Amino acid sequence: MKNKLLILMFACFGLAMIQPAYAEEVTHEQIEEVMKKGFKAKLHNDLAANKEVLAKYAKWLAAYKPPKGDAESWKKKTGEIAAAIKLNDQARLKKAVNCKACHNAHK
Ligand code: HEC
Repeated sequence: MKNKLLILMFACFGLAMIQPAYAEEVTHEQIEEVMKKGFKAKLHNDLAANKEVLAKYAKWLAAYKPPKGDAESWKKKTGEIAAAIKLNDQARLKKAVNCKACHNAHK
């Protein structure tokens, strides 16, 4: 009996610890950072030098819910950016970071 209670306690504690990871939401401020410090500063034009920060930004983008446009299109666009970074494909990344196409659809 005592053991069961202990297990239950640990289970609840574990859930409480895990939950914030799922509940984590990407904020507008984070996207502002991506756009200004990332895309506007043209970090994506030098993938080799900025891979780490670009990968972080791509993760934020993918998890963000844009103010406009459908989720499928957002997933495709942000997925293409993430894929190019992962594959170290500079040309593909340049094409994927299409400011106007994405803003027209999602901003
Ligand atoms: C994958 C889609 C996507 C791409 C590619 C993209 N943007 Fe954006 N951008 C957005 C979205 C969505 C917003 C609006 C975010 C919001 O308001 O929550 C935005 C907002 C912005 C903002 C305003 C930020 C603010 O709130 O102050 C700037 C500046 C900007 N983008 C610059 C750029 C530039 C420059 C490029 C290309 C080099 C670019 N973006 C490429 C999706 C994109």
